[in-house]
Amino acid sequence: MSGGAPVDPTTTAAWTRLTGLAEAYEPDLRSTLTPEWVERQTLEAGDLHVDLSKNLTDDVIEDALLALADEVDLPARREAMFTGERINVTEDRAVLHTALRLPAGASLTVDGQDVVADVHAVLDRAYAFASRVRSGEWTGVTGRRIETVVNIGIGGSDLGPVMAYEALEPYRQDGLSCRFISNIDPTDAGQKLSGLDPETTLFIVSSKTFGTLETLTNARLCRTWLLDRLPGDADREAAVAQHFVAVSTALDKVADFGIDPDNAFGFWDWVGGRYSMDSAIGLSLMVAIGPEHFADLLAGFHTMDEHFRTAPAATNVPLRMGLLNVWYASFLGAHTHAVLPYAQLLHRFPAYLQQLTMESNGKGVRWDGSAVTYDTGEVFWGEPGTNGQHAFYQLIHQGTRLVPADFIAFARPAYDLRDGDVDVHELFLANFFAQTRALALGKTADEVRAEGVAEELVSARTFPGNRPTTSIMAPALTPAVLGQLVALYEHITFVQGVVWGIDSFDQWGVELGKQLAQELGPAVSGDKAVAAEQDPSTRSLIAYYQENRGR
Ligand code: F6P
Repeated sequence: MSGGAPVDPTTTAAWTRLTGLAEAYEPDLRSTLTPEWVERQTLEAGDLHVDLSKNLTDDVIEDALLALADEVDLPARREAMFTGERINVTEDRAVLHTALRLPAGASLTVDGQDVVADVHAVLDRAYAFASRVRSGEWTGVTGRRIETVVNIGIGGSDLGPVMAYEALEPYRQDGLSCRFISNIDPTDAGQKLSGLDPETTLFIVSSKTFGTLETLTNARLCRTWLLDRLPGDADREAAVAQHFVAVSTALDKVADFGIDPDNAFGFWDWVGGRYSMDSAIGLSLMVAIGPEHFADLLAGFHTMDEHFRTAPAATNVPLRMGLLNVWYASFLGAHTHAVLPYAQLLHRFPAYLQQLTMESNGKGVRWDGSAVTYDTGEVFWGEPGTNGQHAFYQLIHQGTRLVPADFIAFARPAYDLRDGDVDVHELFLANFFAQTRALALGKTADEVRAEGVAEELVSARTFPGNRPTTSIMAPALTPAVLGQLVALYEHITFVQGVVWGIDSFDQWGVELGKQLAQELGPAVSGDKAVAAEQDPSTRSLIAYYQENRGR
């Protein structure tokens, strides 16, 4: 199963059916949005209330999409993932981020190893460490309590923790904050270190491989920053031990860096970087929100895992949403997908999803190496509402492109504020409801005319409607709900990858740029021989830099 050839989806009967359905499809949400349809298309998964009714489908299309999932053996591949088969074929690895959130006492043995016991052993150490930092028992080398935790990591070792740190702001401990350094642009470290007191700062170096140029450069830079600024009599070795901890799968490299192995937290090669925020990579978050809330987050992930694994296909939310994305991308020509959280605290959620979805499904060959003959991963993007409304919604409402969009909102606000008599959260939610309605139903030329608009302006003021959206709501943005949301998108990504027959768990496409950056480095620093080896455009750009470096 794990290494066998993927089914070419275009050879399935369902694909042929869907191609015909797409050609004949004439969306008319004004007539399809009946109470009966809305009721049937509104699904529950854990705490998530998901309204699929404003998508461009009907029963026949849904039936064909579910048949497609069966014809590409999706249920078997899902089971292969959950049971630890090596479905990451190009890296010959299991894909077991779902094991990170199995409750203690559950059992999953992979290659003779009790994975759940391993996960909980690290989790318990990480929780104990986080508790010591939170209580002030863990101090800096001069005995002062830690006030700022700086996570140094990039990609999956940054985006998940920072997204969740922002999202769960109400759950943070007072007097303890986190900052996140990721970019190798020295501005990032320069800005994030600004104003910090080295005596009260703890660095967490987060890197799955502990070989990432950006992270190791920033870690060394921070170590120098720390040692240069601590009081002169501070013991340098003890300072690194007290102020630097690490999270990695490469614990030998952590030791080489000078970090005490007792202060290192491991994870496993079966956790992909972009699927790792619920491993020890979430250590900064654990410190910020505390072990109990982190455990709630994990429980939320697990709730969605169970739903995805066991819910019937017709009411399985990740399956249905993943198949809808395939419908839009492969049959209706959508190139992008917007994710629009009506929750300011989720302002980094679209950025997080960009790595999750695009590093996973941005592939041009199937997992056996054969080239695909259809489009794969869409461009995911988004901004919190209502900011997006005043920026790019124009294109979604009246532009020529199809942009399926997920709208996310919460019944209860993080901040309960009023403007006189007006409950501002309700005003905010009114925008959420209004936008999906406007996108679905639009406004006809006759309706515009009925408002007395001059005839020459009628077409400009008409809204075509039939713009697809999914509305996801939950009672509140709690740790458990955040876990459910992230797991939902992990599984949507998986569904799409399986249908397209691609390995959603490798990321070879990031390697070439990394390799060239290493090779080019000397040219940037003035090595003329290396510069001469470059293509004319790169040579000319480096020359421009040399002429204008100003130092
Ligand atoms: O460049 C891609 C990538 O490998 C991501 O998949 C990963 O999340 C990121 O780099 C960081 O890698 P690491 O955690 O090994 O430093």
